Amino acid sequence: MAKLAKLDDIVSLCKRRGFIFQSSEIYGGLASCYDYGPLGVELKRNVRDAWWKSTVQMRDDVVGLDCSILMHPLVWKASGHADKFADLISECKKCNTRSRVDHLTNRADEHTEHVSLDTAQKDAQDLSSKVCPSCGTVGQFTEPMPFKLMFETQMGANADDSMTLYLRPETAQGIFANFKNVLDSTRVKIPFGIAQIGKSFRNEVTTKAFIFRTREFEQAELEFFCAPGTDEQWYEHWKQARFNWYTDLGIKKENLRLRVHDDDELAHYAKACVDVEYKFPFGSGDWQELEGVANRTDFDLRQHQRGMRTLNSWYENKGDLTKIELKSESEDFHKGPLSYFDEQNKQRFIPYVIEPSAGIDRSTLAFLVDAYDEEEVKGNTRNLLRFHPSIAPIKAAIFPLVKKDGMPEIATKIYDDLKGRFSCFYDQKGAVGRRYRRQDEAGTPFCVTVDGQTKEDDTVTVRDRDSMIQERVAVDKVKTYLMEKLGL
Ligand code: GAP
Repeated sequence: MAKLAKLDDIVSLCKRRGFIFQSSEIYGGLASCYDYGPLGVELKRNVRDAWWKSTVQMRDDVVGLDCSILMHPLVWKASGHADKFADLISECKKCNTRSRVDHLTNRADEHTEHVSLDTAQKDAQDLSSKVCPSCGTVGQFTEPMPFKLMFETQMGANADDSMTLYLRPETAQGIFANFKNVLDSTRVKIPFGIAQIGKSFRNEVTTKAFIFRTREFEQAELEFFCAPGTDEQWYEHWKQARFNWYTDLGIKKENLRLRVHDDDELAHYAKACVDVEYKFPFGSGDWQELEGVANRTDFDLRQHQRGMRTLNSWYENKGDLTKIELKSESEDFHKGPLSYFDEQNKQRFIPYVIEPSAGIDRSTLAFLVDAYDEEEVKGNTRNLLRFHPSIAPIKAAIFPLVKKDGMPEIATKIYDDLKGRFSCFYDQKGAVGRRYRRQDEAGTPFCVTVDGQTKEDDTVTVRDRDSMIQERVAVDKVKTYLMEKLGL
């Protein structure tokens, strides 16, 4: 039976085998920032590629986009982030540690990324029995205050004309801001989606659990535009499609669930939202959000139409977002610049949006946790990662049994032939048993070994990571054998 992974085991394997390192470790590390090592970068790229393949490449109704991280500040006024994207925090009077109020009250119970400020304010009414997570003092908290989550930066060298910008806290707004560009430059027709993968930044108050919640992270987001009235059907479609994506890539069904948001958890833009949750091995072994699928209605496009109308007043106020109000909607807003004309029904409307929004780092962690296993083999512990072949960082390792008798030459030839098709690793150092164990820990599905028999009958052994069963395969059939087994 698969062993339930502990986060410490995963963290230590990730460091030992070069999946993930603490950022700036040689300087003592930078809290909540991580670097992906040689195996990690391949794993994460495979996760990203798997998302792109299923969301964009395999669909006729989704196109891709890659927007800049820095955007016009009015984007964040229109989206609501400038005014509302904050956590309510309180400081312990004893140790000065600041904590999220919703975490103190256990209100969100780790189920949501950010409860609305209104909800947090309700929860914050009585902190007298709450315990400081840092020093354990009870009920000694300052008055709760909002803490803005967007990172600020300055653009421009001159003090007089430099502009305050924000590192994007989500990739979604770049898609809304380009809705018209995509519409005008391609042949897409509603219903269709625009997908994007990229970095987002949030100055999170509480970071935790390795790469689960960090201040710099990667998101994979799809904004799927549809006609009002068809939104609920598309919401159901994407809810299921996104759940299946994880199980198709090997996540065990019993570790995954869909959880519908209560009304008071909903973000300001959402009519409905469901989280795909994974049973992560931290906290109380609780379910945690992996991805959200939200019905954002026509909120964002309408808001950006208001934002576009506010541009002049933004200049008049010298770009100070705190001094401007978004212009109200005109009577004929549904005919505005971000509206869509449905040729078939001769109707103009502002499209509704269904948004599946996943975290690449967070799903990478889920894939690591779910694949992790330990088993006893002949009195020794074997650590392994049972990755689905399409996300495994290395697909096959090629070994000569020993470094002589022409074996390295044959093994190198096989390696050179295979590496053009998929990621391979060549290793001729040390006992072959140890080389197998190293590849088990890297999650490599197959090891190909050239041995004494190879010279006699032109066959090699192919060892399966999970069963450890070895088969003899003809050298000239190895490539097709592996391609078939890997599903390539
Ligand atoms: N556009 C909607 C949106 O951004 P979200 O629930 O705030 O929604 C979506 O974020 C996903 O992004 C989350 O489910 C999670 O996978 C990932 N994510 C959010 N904040 C994160 C953080 N601080 N660290 C790692 N991943 C994060």
